[in-house]
Amino acid sequence: MYEVAAIWFIVLAGIALSVRSRSSDSEGCAPTVWSLIPWVGGALQYGKDSIRYLNQCRTHYGSAFKMVLAGRVITVICDTKGIDNIFRDRSKAFNTHLAHHQIAEAMGNVKRANDIVHIINDRLLPLVTRALSREGLDKIVPAFNEDIGRSIEAMARQVRNSPNGKAISLLPFVSESIYHAVSKAAFGPLFPFDTYDDFEACDADLVLLISRIPILSRNVLKAQGRYLHALMDYMRRGWSEGHLEGASAMISDLVSVLKDTDLDESDIAGTLFTIVWGMQANTMRIPYWILVFLLNDPAAAARVQEEVDREIRDNFGGDIKRFLATPYTALESHFPLVDSCVKEALRIGILQSALRQAHADTEIISETGRVRIRKGDIIMANISAFHMDPEVFEDPRTFRADRYLNDKKKIHLGFGGGSHLCKGRFLAMHVAKVFVVMCFKMFDMKLVDASGKSAIGNLPPPDTRRSISVLRPSSEVELFVHARIRGEKDGSLLFSS
Ligand code: HEM
Repeated sequence: MYEVAAIWFIVLAGIALSVRSRSSDSEGCAPTVWSLIPWVGGALQYGKDSIRYLNQCRTHYGSAFKMVLAGRVITVICDTKGIDNIFRDRSKAFNTHLAHHQIAEAMGNVKRANDIVHIINDRLLPLVTRALSREGLDKIVPAFNEDIGRSIEAMARQVRNSPNGKAISLLPFVSESIYHAVSKAAFGPLFPFDTYDDFEACDADLVLLISRIPILSRNVLKAQGRYLHALMDYMRRGWSEGHLEGASAMISDLVSVLKDTDLDESDIAGTLFTIVWGMQANTMRIPYWILVFLLNDPAAAARVQEEVDREIRDNFGGDIKRFLATPYTALESHFPLVDSCVKEALRIGILQSALRQAHADTEIISETGRVRIRKGDIIMANISAFHMDPEVFEDPRTFRADRYLNDKKKIHLGFGGGSHLCKGRFLAMHVAKVFVVMCFKMFDMKLVDASGKSAIGNLPPPDTRRSISVLRPSSEVELFVHARIRGEKDGSLLFSS
């Protein structure tokens, strides 16, 4: 009896919400997505498959709508004009505090997340921007290049010991090598490299870190606790006379700024963890998707192979060590087809990811007209809707290796836009380029499934439930590359073992 009454109450409240939302449409606000259960709104459908839910809403409500997710009302903008207006933010009414706050609290377990948001914006971001500028990168990438070269050579040695080739589990190979090399370049040799599994656990279950549901979140909270302790221990061991031993100037300076505040040790470690996550999580996924898409398209892979061989031969004297020793700025203009693949993977592989909060009443001019935004509203720029728009990108769901080679002016929003454009974009592009070039130079690869059969045309669906920014591959379906060494000369003597 009571249950029936409760269900009716929810249904009626849902109807009331939809009536309210329709009346607000006429006032120039975006229409609110109807939902049976108020407060919860579309949270369940969104949590299950956010891309699908957003697409359904767009089909029913147009390119600007409001969705309710567990009590939060979010205005979603899906068209080019509206997204561009959010990024340009001419009225200076939007900020990114909410996103930074949520990540610091969830990923770093930071207690004083409000303070951290301001420290990040005012003091840390300018340091990161300078350190990861084109010129700044010349100081960081040599250590990355050397470490990634060593990881790939270590794999090449294993492959060489198997005359018929070896199946390499693709995801851990890409992710762990990049985690190690990026950490080494940024944090130096004292970094606790054995933290990869805990990092991966926290990234995979970020939603559980946000929700902190006692039983469900238990394991990921333990992983987070271990990670934070490892970072505190790293700082204690490495901190001496105002700098972190062996770390890049960027990380040393960031820690120095944090130590200069009245934050406690665990909040400093938590902030550092959010920085590690921002640097690593998306960066390691892009080369994975590039390899998967290319190996799924043998003609495109052959073109990339040709470019890699030609560039290394003509511009680096056929010497991989020379390629790896080349400064970032000198490498930028080389391998244009690989660069195009990186942009295409960013286009196809990224979810909606730009959230803003309005700190004043304002409006967004979208293709549907003016969308009124009130102080405190949350706004989402649906980047993936733009990337999948057939008016902008021909055949948008297909990975076209040369899409950005043929049309150099074509844009992607994989790194966002406007004043909050990704500060690590040059590093992320470089990591993907070097990793892909090295794989093509060292190995003959083909994509296979767990039983060794060709996996061409049989790609695993992405795991939209656990993805926040760049899509995570589905963990249930494992892909392998069957690799052979590409000739003794290339495959052996990169570094002395
Ligand atoms: C493939 C890898 C990466 C992708 C796809 C990516 C994507 C993005 C996107 C879409 C934004 C804008 C978010 C918004 O507008 O709200 C952003 C911001 C940012 N990214 Fe990245 N990123 C990547 C790698 C990196 C790396 C390696 C770093 C290095 C620390 C980094 C640091 C940042 C920072 C600091 C911001 C905030 C900028 C601001 O608010 O002014 N990212 N990133």
